[in-house]
Amino acid sequence: MTEPAAAPDGEPAPARPLPSVDELDLPFFDYDEPGLTGEVYHQRLAAVREQGWLARSPLAVVVLDRESGEFFLRARETAFPGREIADLFGITAGRLRDMIDANILNLTGERHRRLRALVGPAFTPRAAARWRPVMREFLAALWEGLGGATECDVVRAIAKPYPALTIAAVLGAPPGDAPRLHEWSSWVQRQFDIRALASEAGRIEEAVIELHDYAEGLLALRRREPSDDLLSALLAAEADGERLTHEECVNLVLNVLAGGVDTTQAQLSHALRLFAAHPRQWELLRQQPDLVPQAVAEVLRHEPITPFTARICTGRIEHRGVVFPPGTIVAVCAERANRDQQAGEEFDITAERDARVLTFGAGAHFCLGANLARAELAEALTFLAPRLPGLRPAGEPVLGGVEGIYGIDSLPLAWSAG
Ligand code: HEM
Repeated sequence: MTEPAAAPDGEPAPARPLPSVDELDLPFFDYDEPGLTGEVYHQRLAAVREQGWLARSPLAVVVLDRESGEFFLRARETAFPGREIADLFGITAGRLRDMIDANILNLTGERHRRLRALVGPAFTPRAAARWRPVMREFLAALWEGLGGATECDVVRAIAKPYPALTIAAVLGAPPGDAPRLHEWSSWVQRQFDIRALASEAGRIEEAVIELHDYAEGLLALRRREPSDDLLSALLAAEADGERLTHEECVNLVLNVLAGGVDTTQAQLSHALRLFAAHPRQWELLRQQPDLVPQAVAEVLRHEPITPFTARICTGRIEHRGVVFPPGTIVAVCAERANRDQQAGEEFDITAERDARVLTFGAGAHFCLGANLARAELAEALTFLAPRLPGLRPAGEPVLGGVEGIYGIDSLPLAWSAG
């Protein structure tokens, strides 16, 4: 900031008030625009980013670089706007609203810190690593199911069933329940999707009720017969002499299910799409399996399946000479933040990169399942790379929209007989 110029009588001129973000003339970016997907979406964002670090969109201002993205995710005067968005769509009471209110993402301050302290130990890298053998078993069974085919829709065959099976195992649910857990989770996850809240709130609420009852049943079973799964760990979790209440346990199960299925499915689908489009990178990974952790990191950086996450300003915030009044909704763009470095548009699993990407968020709400997701992706790439030589596209993929979780509906790929 520059010093205020001196007035003619020697007194310093009164400082000019900082502009409010509402007054700024900003480029427009509509993340809800039909057809905004694939390369078009990256190009559109790159063009908006060239004009500055801020843009305007229908419901929010969009923050386009990493420094400011991290700032808003970590700022004490911001919160996830889940309740405000629910209000906007008239979801002010009922089971769906109760679940939104109790969602860990919508909790702040001491309540949130307490929950994270209690559940943190169940989500460490070591805790995630325990599930790796089970992940390998699921991958082997899904591979068997392909019966030697050299072409398939890899979303339907692998990326979709795999995370639901894993989460079922982590929670201690029978593998046979994975398909209905998948169905519930993708409905419950739509509490974050503005289009679905507008048109399908009834179906989301039904899924919330069904899943809530299911989680209650599973918890009752684990209370009677503790095992070595996540539910038993939650029931036993204790920090500073405190335990989780029954409702907290049920809600955490809902949060883990809602947050842990569509996300990993989408990220693995994009990983396979990226490698099919970059055959030399895939060949390199096949020859050097020790590149898997870097490959996972590069997929997460290059194609984050959570391209935008949101914050609402709960107080007046000043940042980079701009005032963000209370109530301002800020969309943090992980896609641009992750490419905010030299050669950022390239997909390259050998490049030395700064590890601070925003795909899993930042600050207090940093993804609880990040270690589990990384382990799932690493196991999948380790398993698939040697089995899919010559991986290539075998048709047009059907890509989802980028406004919520950026998924892939179908991805036909082919490979050579191994
Ligand atoms: C590639 C996969 C995944 C991605 C990209 C992802 C992304 C994210 C992001 C961006 C956030 C923070 C949102 C915000 O601050 O606004 C988040 C939070 C969260 N994620 Fe994930 N996630 C993934 C997988 C998982 C898995 C496997 C689980 C469950 C085991 C999970 C459970 C959660 C939970 C419970 C939160 C809320 C944490 C809190 O509020 O303290 N996620 N995730």
